[in-house]
Amino acid sequence: MKRLFLRFIGSRQTFLFIACSLLLTLLTTNLALADFTEPQSQQGEYLALAGNCKGCHTTLGGKPYAGGRKLQTPFGEFVTPNITPDIETGIGQWSKEDFWQAMHHGKAKDGRYLYPVFPYIEYTKVTRQDSDKIFDYLRSLPPVAQANPPHKIDPPYDNQFLLFLWRTWYFEEGVYKPDSSKSEEWNRGAYLVQGLGHCTACHTSRNVWGASQDGELQGGEIMGTFWYAPSLISPLEAGMGDWPIETVVELLSTGITNHAVTSGPMATIVRESLQHLSAADMRAMAVYLQSIGKKEIDIKKTRKIPPMPEAVRQYLAKGELIYEKHCQDCHGESGQGVSNIYPPLAGNRSVTLTSPLNTIRSVLYGGYPPSTAGNKRPYGMPPYQHIIHDTEIAQVVSYIRNAWGNLGSLVNQFDVDDSRGYEY
Ligand code: HEC
Ligand code: HEC
Ligand code: HEC
Repeated sequence: MKRLFLRFIGSRQTFLFIACSLLLTLLTTNLALADFTEPQSQQGEYLALAGNCKGCHTTLGGKPYAGGRKLQTPFGEFVTPNITPDIETGIGQWSKEDFWQAMHHGKAKDGRYLYPVFPYIEYTKVTRQDSDKIFDYLRSLPPVAQANPPHKIDPPYDNQFLLFLWRTWYFEEGVYKPDSSKSEEWNRGAYLVQGLGHCTACHTSRNVWGASQDGELQGGEIMGTFWYAPSLISPLEAGMGDWPIETVVELLSTGITNHAVTSGPMATIVRESLQHLSAADMRAMAVYLQSIGKKEIDIKKTRKIPPMPEAVRQYLAKGELIYEKHCQDCHGESGQGVSNIYPPLAGNRSVTLTSPLNTIRSVLYGGYPPSTAGNKRPYGMPPYQHIIHDTEIAQVVSYIRNAWGNLGSLVNQFDVDDSRGYEY
């Protein structure tokens, strides 16, 4: 019996049998592992889209997440780092903990304070669980060996001690705390808007130190870009307190509705990030945004249109001629536009913002709404920077800000000149 058993063990079939079962066990554990990591990194991919990580960490036509994109700020030029898992040039040697340090505390692996151009002021609200998922996703990417040039930060801002002080004053660290008096959906929306969506990174006015000045999402100029990101609270700007949820979702996931359109950096956010989010998450964001928007006051009734001096009338009449010649074909005789193709200019809040920056930019550089699944081939607007002079651009911008019941400040050629050279 014993001999038989030994023979059985020693036989070739047995060897094969044992080898096969070993292989099978290995395979099944591997499968189990894959089962476990696959959704985790897929969820991570989704969350990375919600944070627009790729948008900043990729150059035009460059390898995804390999960095190298240059960001201009009043404090100098920043270059995004390589966050693929390459050992030498990426984050191949980082642990989950190191990554969490960056997302939550704004610290690099070597302990250096990171500059808040990396929006960790907002990402600090992201949960540890979500941060880990993003890390797993980044680790699943093919490593790209790409060393990027260093930042060119103007002195004295290239000083870690100053950055340390800045953080002590302005950086409030902490994961998003749900508000138990609100619905789960509202909290999900708030978490996305305040955290990964980093809407405050742009929609907030900043002091000379680049720190957020007033309440959240009150609108402000984006430093170093000549773009104005409107208030998401005020009904005179881009507040959506009175918008139906569906319209908010439509604008943010397709980039266009019949009375508004996203352009410039906002078109990029829609294209790279928001259009990829699930219907449930977009709805949650819209619920939150609707709740923070002030209700629309009847602007036309409450405001008094001041009597127009003759000189102003003449100035606007010149603008009207330019409008008829260059703009009317698309935007319509009375600025009514064409639904979901050419935005209306009459009653369009983007045109009458206190800051005329975006309107000047639209005329100088033209632009496209984002190309999205919901609006695949958007119609564009031609650039006028080489077609009409600054004086004429100023006249036509002043005209559209004050025609058809619109009311906005006048613009002169120096305002136009200031915006030149900042093509996005
Ligand atoms: C607005 C542009 C921008 C966005 C959006 C952005 N980053 Fe960055 N990120 C930067 C810049 C710039 C730096 C460099 C900061 C520094 O060196 O102080 C950086 C640094 C980092 C670092 C530190 C890398 C290192 O080598 O020290 C990590 C990790 C990182 N980002 C991950 C992410 C992730 C994950 C996301 C999305 C959730 C993201 N970033 C979104 C601009 C951005
Ligand atoms: C990189 C900077 C940036 C980020 C981040 C950003 N925005 Fe914007 N946003 C802008 C700019 C600039 C405009 C003005 C141009 C325009 O009207 O599209 C704008 C316009 C808007 C508008 C008005 C569009 C219109 O014309 O009616 C809404 C609504 C909006 N943003 C919502 C958001 C939300 C929600 C988030 C976060 C998920 C966000 N933005 C993140 C820069 C940004
Ligand atoms: C060929 C059609 C076409 C012509 C001509 C045209 N536009 Fe546009 N315009 C568009 C489209 C399309 C957009 C949306 C662009 C975007 O999202 O960046 C737009 C956007 C705008 C915006 C921004 C509106 C918003 O909601 O952000 C302004 C302001 C504007 N146009 C003014 C003008 C003026 C002034 C002229 C004439 C000098 C003109 N347009 C000529 C098609 C046109």
